[in-house]
Amino acid sequence: MADRDFLLPQRSTVRTMRERLVSPVRDFRIDALGAGAGPRPGGVRALAAALGLTMPVSVFADVPQAQPVLVFKLTADFRKDPDPRKVNLGVGAYRTDESQPWVLPVVRKVQQQIAANESINHEYLPILGLPEFRSNASRIALGDDSPAIKENRIGSVQGLGGTGALRIGAEFLRRWYNGTKNAATPVYVSSPTWENHNGVFSAAGFTDIRSYHYWDASKRGLDLQGMLQDMENAPEFSIFVLHACAHNPTGTDPTPEQWEKIASVMKRRFLFPFFDSAYQGFASGDLDKDAWAVRYFVNEGFELFCAQSFSKNFGLYNERVGNLIVVGKDGDNVLRVLSQMEKIVRVVWSNPPAQGARIVATTLSSPELFSEWRDNVKTMADRILLMRAELRSRLEALGTPGTWSHITDQIGMFSFTGLSAKQVEYLINEKHIYLLPSGRINMCGLTTKNLDYVATSIHEAVTKIQ
Ligand SMILES: Cc1ncc(COP(=O)(O)O)c(C=O)c1O
Repeated sequence: MADRDFLLPQRSTVRTMRERLVSPVRDFRIDALGAGAGPRPGGVRALAAALGLTMPVSVFADVPQAQPVLVFKLTADFRKDPDPRKVNLGVGAYRTDESQPWVLPVVRKVQQQIAANESINHEYLPILGLPEFRSNASRIALGDDSPAIKENRIGSVQGLGGTGALRIGAEFLRRWYNGTKNAATPVYVSSPTWENHNGVFSAAGFTDIRSYHYWDASKRGLDLQGMLQDMENAPEFSIFVLHACAHNPTGTDPTPEQWEKIASVMKRRFLFPFFDSAYQGFASGDLDKDAWAVRYFVNEGFELFCAQSFSKNFGLYNERVGNLIVVGKDGDNVLRVLSQMEKIVRVVWSNPPAQGARIVATTLSSPELFSEWRDNVKTMADRILLMRAELRSRLEALGTPGTWSHITDQIGMFSFTGLSAKQVEYLINEKHIYLLPSGRINMCGLTTKNLDYVATSIHEAVTKIQ
């Protein structure tokens, strides 16, 4: 529509402009062109110019430039860097020892089965997602013998990745959590955390996002006392975002005994656990072990949310496969929650995409494919463990100042190296090794070919830059 050419940054200017022309638009067209309301050569802009009107600036003229998302910018910078020694330790995705993305063999196999299955079509999925995906996904988080599953008091919503599951969960809580005034409910995220947690909860409308102690930089480990104290001091019914396993970015999880203490305070203070499970299988290589915390909380009788991502453990990053699990006190509550979830999903993405969910559902519902997937996950986890051991032994052999045991103590995809922002800058600018300013590295960026180079570069950074 050529009329859109006239949209101006300020409404008053739009009105003035329209008033200076002939209104309504249809009459204006007829008057100006004498030719009815059909397509006009040159459009309204040409006409405005002919009438001596100054063309307005863009309606987007006042839009400020936003900062790029750091981790994506880092990868873009890495791609542009022509240096052959370059290493990307920033990206949050698995890489093989050849520095390549990995399509899991079980995923390839299932994709082919799906492609050959002529009974599958492209009809819309239900609003809450593919039923067999939702039930199987929930089952691997909660376990086959989960009391909540047996008592029929769980439900779930297919999300666009873990992010979508978190966002839908946050949106629901802001609308409906524990009565009214939900936007003012404090939401606690760990310090540090995956940077998107803050953004997701504030985009959902929460106005009081706080951080709880998590990382003790001096001992390079969990600050359990700080965390428990923050929970003691939090207003009752506050929402706590907990990383189910393989904490991003620190690679440091509470032990089962520590989780028990956390659960006990949370129960006494009526705090709501919102688990983020983006790395099941990556922490230990064992899906059940990595789900220990979530299962413990469910067994302890908590009502909770758990946002699952299948981006990492299925390597389905761009298929956007996630699941939001709702565990309630009884089935009736859960049904009402899901009815409201439908309302939310309907106005956000209406209904989710099918392909990734089909791959996950098919894999999880066949014992053979499931066991193949477990092996694939273990392959990834084992490579990470190997890289941890190799990096630590190289740094220790070089006599790099400091202790490096945290590299092997930490788990999951990431390691929080303890490198300072200046040392990181040195590594990027002088060594073409890309990592986040926090010192977080993705262990999968390491390979048997670049380990020596990365270790000697870290050694140089630590010894040269204080
Ligand atoms: C802790 C954490 N939560 C959620 C996500 C989101 O995953 P997805 O890519 O499935 O949205 C990530 C991804 O990096 C993550 O690290």
